[in-house]
Amino acid sequence: MRHARAYGIAGLTALGVVAAVAFAQSTTVPLPEEAPVEASPLGETAVADLAEADWGDPQNGATLAGTCAACHGLDGKATVREVYPSIAGQSERYIARQLALFKSGERVSPIMQPFAAPLSAQQMRDLGAHYAMQEAGAGVADDTVVASGPYEGMKFFEIGQQLFRSGDAERQIPACMACHGPTGAGNPGPPYPHVGGQSSWYSARRLQEFREGTTGESDTRLFDIMHEVAQDLTDEEIQALASYMEGLHTRPDARMREMMAQLDTGAAPAPAAGQGEADIQTQDGGTVVIEEGQDAAGAVAAPDASDPAGPRTGSEQAEGEAEAGTEGDRTGDPSQQ
Ligand code: HEC
Ligand code: HEC
Repeated sequence: MRHARAYGIAGLTALGVVAAVAFAQSTTVPLPEEAPVEASPLGETAVADLAEADWGDPQNGATLAGTCAACHGLDGKATVREVYPSIAGQSERYIARQLALFKSGERVSPIMQPFAAPLSAQQMRDLGAHYAMQEAGAGVADDTVVASGPYEGMKFFEIGQQLFRSGDAERQIPACMACHGPTGAGNPGPPYPHVGGQSSWYSARRLQEFREGTTGESDTRLFDIMHEVAQDLTDEEIQALASYMEGLHTRPDARMREMMAQLDTGAAPAPAAGQGEADIQTQDGGTVVIEEGQDAAGAVAAPDASDPAGPRTGSEQAEGEAEAGTEGDRTGDPSQQ
């Protein structure tokens, strides 16, 4: 990738010189002073540059998001769930970091890299702040009954639900919600991404990558956390986890709402850009509050609202949410969304 680009630039420069020489020979006009050849924007330091940028400005991010809307929607909900990931409600830091990884080539995606390449570190954080303020959507969990194998008789998403909430002590698989929260809302302090409501194909593919253990990232600390987690998951478990997470709504239960009320983030309601989608997707109104507090400097405090419900005590709460994620959804077929 880097080489290809370097050759490309060298090639263009050579062409330019040939053309300029030909031009000079046929006329008496002196050679124009060549504009200095820009150092190619390889973005090698893209990730490190993020630390130099300020906390993202969501307003500017909203303007920049026009470029992303065709695929991720203006509000961060994938325009076609089966093809693009959603990034609404994802944390500022996580989004900015992924964009930087695309820019540097440490994360490969022929689709995303051209969109990330021109962005400055500040623009990445601005985009991150914009999407962080959007209300996450959700899809449908698959509740087909499993016909055979180790999980015979369970509904498909329940395989994922069990692992998500409790992990598997015997295989040393931790509960996913210990880091991603009972609603999958993540935790932007340490950049644990939002995974609730994400398209299942995408979550499954990410889990396969983590299981595989190969990455182009030069700082693999975060990747390694997920490699540890995912290395023993079976294909069936990965698909079931992805399905469960797709149906996971961030609708808070009464207890969560009470905790959120006490937070008093003073944040304005999320901008309603691009709303008016299926009801199922927006049942979770209000949860954005958790993420909204982040633009304030106290970024870490608010999101932890979900933590008191942690892996042990959160099951009741998570139960209500998971049900919201599958039942309401069964009425229509919002996976086609
Ligand atoms: C042409 C469609 C398209 C456009 C336009 C686009 N993206 Fe993406 N984006 C994708 C696809 C596809 C992926 C999944 C990449 C992969 O991992 O294979 C993705 C992945 C991402 C991710 C990583 C998500 C995660 O959970 O790790 C972020 C962040 C992102 N895009 C942000 C943006 C931003 C910001 C813009 C605008 C500047 C943008 N994208 C424009 C298609 C698009
Ligand atoms: C110890 C903390 C921790 C636990 C436990 C954990 N994760 Fe993660 N997860 C992370 C971190 C950190 C990342 C970001 C990795 C990166 O940036 O490369 C992540 C990333 C992900 C992603 C990628 C999201 C995206 O938008 O690309 C998915 C999907 C995911 N985790 C699912 C799970 C599942 C399923 C489980 C349980 C089986 C789980 N995680 C358990 C910390 C954790």
